[in-house]
Amino acid sequence: MSNLMSGKMLAADIKAGVKQRVESLGLMGIEVGLALMQVGGTASDEQYLRTTISVSKTVGIQTYEYRFPETASLNEIINTINNINADERINGLLVLFPIARRINPRRVVNAILPEKDVDGLGSISVGMFAAEESMFQIFGKDGVTSADGVSLASACAPHGFLPCTPFGVIRLLEYYGVKIKGSNAVVIGKSLAVGKPLALMLLAKESTVTICHKSSDDLAAHVRNADIVCSATGVSGLIKGDMIKDGAVVVDIGINIMPDGSFAGDVDFGSVAPKASFITPVPGGVGPVTIATLLENTLRSAQNSVLLKTPLILP
Ligand SMILES: NC(=O)c1ccc[n+]([C@@H]2O[C@H](COP(=O)([O-])OP(=O)(O)OC[C@H]3O[C@@H](n4cnc5c(N)ncnc54)[C@H](OP(=O)(O)O)[C@@H]3O)[C@@H](O)[C@H]2O)c1
Repeated sequence: MSNLMSGKMLAADIKAGVKQRVESLGLMGIEVGLALMQVGGTASDEQYLRTTISVSKTVGIQTYEYRFPETASLNEIINTINNINADERINGLLVLFPIARRINPRRVVNAILPEKDVDGLGSISVGMFAAEESMFQIFGKDGVTSADGVSLASACAPHGFLPCTPFGVIRLLEYYGVKIKGSNAVVIGKSLAVGKPLALMLLAKESTVTICHKSSDDLAAHVRNADIVCSATGVSGLIKGDMIKDGAVVVDIGINIMPDGSFAGDVDFGSVAPKASFITPVPGGVGPVTIATLLENTLRSAQNSVLLKTPLILP
């Protein structure tokens, strides 16, 4: 029987660190702010938004909500993002995806200033990450911290935040002591927000990575070879016990709302858990770590802004 990889303890650790550093900034008269933008949206978006707002409150981060109807124009959305970019109170902006099909999501994320792109989805953030220019975050080399809790290395490094969900997966694996280096990992899903960056992060950690998607021939054969299986498809019950190697680690990133209103992942927990050495629950696995990482990125953005924008006045 497998061990449950709950995300709650790790998320609590991350949030405790964020709260402490938000308080340090507060002593300097600096507030940390996160904007959340929704265009149309589903019941699960609404749930995610509410949860993020309430968790932000617990660590002292101020939230700003921007809700648009499904009919909103690209122009309205981009104008609002430009205002957010210029708003000194706001250190980070998260746009909930997917948004209306007629709106090009790349136009939306690319309108966010890289220093406020706390989910790391804009082309500059993605490019820096792919070129291994923002890897200090994944290797935990946050560097020297000054007396007021501001991390000097991350503040002096060029901007570029890692996407929260895949980075959360890596943190969760490491928190539970899962050996990534030398492993065979299979990532199912190749989206820009989850699957693709997760594959790159696993690669950076020296795993041998296979990426599967809808056109992959014989998904089961790939999954059966994996020491680490990460599924991010939004297809409930896609990964079944007979596809899993004995002792594999299974990370279920998918979130599906079932007809009875309950949440389920991509993994058929009942058949997979007895074979896996570790498995994440849904809910309570990757989700809490994603939100905690988003808040941490927002705090880092605020710290960067303090160091880079505050003029040094010599006595
Ligand atoms: N836990 C969290 O914090 C968190 C955060 C973000 C997202 N999520 C959840 O993670 C899931 C994925 O999110 P996303 O934004 O990456 O979704 P997405 O953009 O819709 O991407 C889904 C990916 O899954 C692949 N896929 C779909 N059906 C498949 C199948 N039958 N076999 C193999 N691959 C298949 C798709 O392949 P193609 O590219 O070939 O179409 C695509 O690459 C969703 O359930 C979402 O709610 C969770």
